[in-house]
Amino acid sequence: MNSEKKITIAIDGYSSSGKSTMAKQLAKTIGYRYIDSGAMYRAVALASMRAGLVSPHKEPDVDGITALLPSVDIDFEVTCDGQNTLLNGENVEAEIRSLEVSSCVSPIATISAVRHALVKMQRDMGLSKGIVMDGRDIGTVVFPDAEMKVFCDASAEKRAARRFKELSDKGASVTYEEVLENVKTRDYTDETRDESPLRCAPDAVRLDNSEMTIDEQNQWLLNLYNEVLASL
Ligand code: DC
Repeated sequence: MNSEKKITIAIDGYSSSGKSTMAKQLAKTIGYRYIDSGAMYRAVALASMRAGLVSPHKEPDVDGITALLPSVDIDFEVTCDGQNTLLNGENVEAEIRSLEVSSCVSPIATISAVRHALVKMQRDMGLSKGIVMDGRDIGTVVFPDAEMKVFCDASAEKRAARRFKELSDKGASVTYEEVLENVKTRDYTDETRDESPLRCAPDAVRLDNSEMTIDEQNQWLLNLYNEVLASL
């Protein structure tokens, strides 16, 4: 086993499938950098909303958003429990998790110019390896050569219940039905878009965590990491 070797870890899956929670924990345990690529799409969605180029009731203005991209700077600051997303230096971590941004982000993520710009940034972040990145196309497009790939799933109802609890705990006034609807709509948009649709990479290990606790899935992921490392 080569415990000194730094690898690239790609964790993809459906929205609210628990992938960020376990990716973040694994990165912390093994001392890797963690990147939530969904936060980057959310930051672009927020910048576009603020510029009046998309809203929950308005289709994205693709030309306007493409023109906006060069002025959108996304960065992360590491915190004790993960990361804060910075949009042009402003901490937007809480705002990008709102249901409003969640409603706009999937259409934004279908825009080819947005995907190209973000995929380039993500590849740059992974140049020196030692990274855990989660998203939808990390194992298929961003890092097709990643040494470890996981594809996470759980039923739409389970995922909506987790997301609803998360939002309610933060004081958001949403109903379970609204969250379930949003989860299903995002699944559909993510799976059917032309560019980099959500797919399980052929060499990814699938995990259905519908019936797993957070501790169980963290342990499962750490075991897999140890197996991968031992096989190198
Ligand atoms: O993981 P999340 O729910 O925060 O992702 C927000 C949206 O961004 C989701 O609708 C899909 C999109 N996304 C993507 O297309 N590619 C990624 N690598 C990450 C997220």
